[in-house]
Amino acid sequence: MKAKSAEFVISAAEPSRFPRATLPEIAFAGRSNVGKSSLLNTLVGVSGLARTSRTPGRTRLLNWFRVVPPRGPAMHFVDLPGYGYARVPHDMRASWRPLIESYLGDRQVLRGLVVLVDARRGAEDEERELLEWLHEVKVPPLVVVTKADKLPKNKRKPAAILVQRELGLDRAPILFSALDSEGIVPLWRAILQHVNADEPEP
Ligand code: GTP
Ligand code: MG
Repeated sequence: MKAKSAEFVISAAEPSRFPRATLPEIAFAGRSNVGKSSLLNTLVGVSGLARTSRTPGRTRLLNWFRVVPPRGPAMHFVDLPGYGYARVPHDMRASWRPLIESYLGDRQVLRGLVVLVDARRGAEDEERELLEWLHEVKVPPLVVVTKADKLPKNKRKPAAILVQRELGLDRAPILFSALDSEGIVPLWRAILQHVNADEPEP
């Protein structure tokens, strides 16, 4: 399962540069190096569309992509800068939070935030805070446990259930791997459900 098409639209480092809100949006957030850009590339089926890196903290901008999903009309995917990377200078970290909060709090077309959690690391304070904030601004979270391939098969489901408990979720998060495409079908299904959730009945 992959997108029919996907192309880069624009990068922005401040709200005044965000593109006009013309399409429903799904954004991707998580700790630096958790695999946001890799997940986005795997979902759309275009390797190298969102920049991936072994150097954590590289994506410091919000990056918009126009995506035509496997079924239904076009949407925007937004790759958000990673948080919580200790070696990034402090003033830069301080500038991320208001930027991301203004995006998540003000973006009327935002239909859901895919929150990535590393399978081996689990959820920590940052993820709990992010989910509380999403609840306040009424943006539904889609929690995904990434890098599932790094755990043996029999440890994956337990890791997802642990994250469910850590974050107090109603159901287990989606297990995902950019390496073997595990989780791609359930994640697409969840994204399409969120994008179409408030479409008027025909
Ligand atoms: P920043 O933009 O810097 O915050 O990072 P990011 O969250 O976009 O992570 P990125 O996709 O750049 O991936 C970081 C590293 O993890 C890269 O070396 C990827 O190859 C690796 N990686 C990402 N997803 C997976 C996965 O599912 N499995 C494995 N084994 N490695 C992965
Ligand atoms: Mg990235």
